[in-house]
Amino acid sequence: MANEINTIGVLTSGGDAPGMNAAIRAVVRESIIKGKKVFGIKRGYAGLLQEEIFEMQTTDVSDIIQRGGTILQTARCTEFTTAAGQQKGAEICKRHGIDGIIVIGGDGSFRGAQKLAGLGINTVGIPGTIDLDIACTDYSIGFDTAVNTAMEAIDKVRDTSTSHERCSIIEVMGRGAGFIALWCGIANGAENVLLPEKYDYNEQALVNNIIENRKKGKQHHIIINAEGIGHSTSMAKRIEAATGVETRATILGYMQRGGCPTARDRMQASLMGAYAVDILCEGKSNRVVGERNGKLMDMDIDEALAMQKSVDAYEYKICYNLSK
Ligand code: ADP
Ligand code: F6P
Repeated sequence: MANEINTIGVLTSGGDAPGMNAAIRAVVRESIIKGKKVFGIKRGYAGLLQEEIFEMQTTDVSDIIQRGGTILQTARCTEFTTAAGQQKGAEICKRHGIDGIIVIGGDGSFRGAQKLAGLGINTVGIPGTIDLDIACTDYSIGFDTAVNTAMEAIDKVRDTSTSHERCSIIEVMGRGAGFIALWCGIANGAENVLLPEKYDYNEQALVNNIIENRKKGKQHHIIINAEGIGHSTSMAKRIEAATGVETRATILGYMQRGGCPTARDRMQASLMGAYAVDILCEGKSNRVVGERNGKLMDMDIDEALAMQKSVDAYEYKICYNLSK
């Protein structure tokens, strides 16, 4: 085979996501089962450029499937976005005998993998981000855990909101994507959900809605605000002044990225990790692993990065209808 893979590197890059450890475990064990050497690369592309590279054995990934975060650590690395940084990264791979790299991260991380592939290092990306914003795949590792964490936190805020008869604006993560917000909108039965994809934000309509709901006897008013819209604290002050209803902002923040991965995240991470090794060993490169209609698949990175994704129109409509 022209592209025979003997040594596989694995790194995590961008924001961490629960389930990344389960993916690392799967990559390490599937590689060793296939008779390959496997190297862990610390701190994403930053660690690659610093040559923080070490050989991993089966026992190095014991007792991590249930842990949040990433044992390899993660980073964002500006140097790797330059041609010189990418060239240096490819040379380091060659010097360490790394024939293929598995990159666990989001779209940005896949752009890095695409550059390494162009420089002769075989690459496969595994979608790992709580944001669910990778267009080529129905699922990305970490989303299920994060959305459940957010949902549970919002339930708690709702208890105190009801006791005090307040309005609560709760901001969830997702960068430019509103998937966590929309899911919480439905799963928490929120009165309003503000999404960057549906930027029809009309504060007067929101104010009217809060006043109407108060008249109907609702004791709380939960607004889920996506990070991509933001400004929750100033919004709360304006809404309180306009409605006379005490309004508080809660920004859930990084708690959404931590914690034990759910069964779904462990399952997806394990399957995607093993699948990435399998296709790398078949000689494939510049690919992203994904899940489509419940099946594992892989796709060219260039094609994957050109795709667009938005929230589902039906889910949005139902969220809106059920909040009445
Ligand atoms: P995510 O992978 O979660 O989308 P980022 O967008 O922050 O997170 O990207 C993670 C890292 O991937 C960046 O810090 C950088 O090292 C690398 N990266 C991002 N964009 C590019 C690019 N265009 N070329 C090469 N590397 C990139
Ligand atoms: O991509 C995951 C994510 O948590 C986003 O939801 C958020 O916008 C971003 O990362 C925050 O990144 P940082 O860790 O650099 O603050």
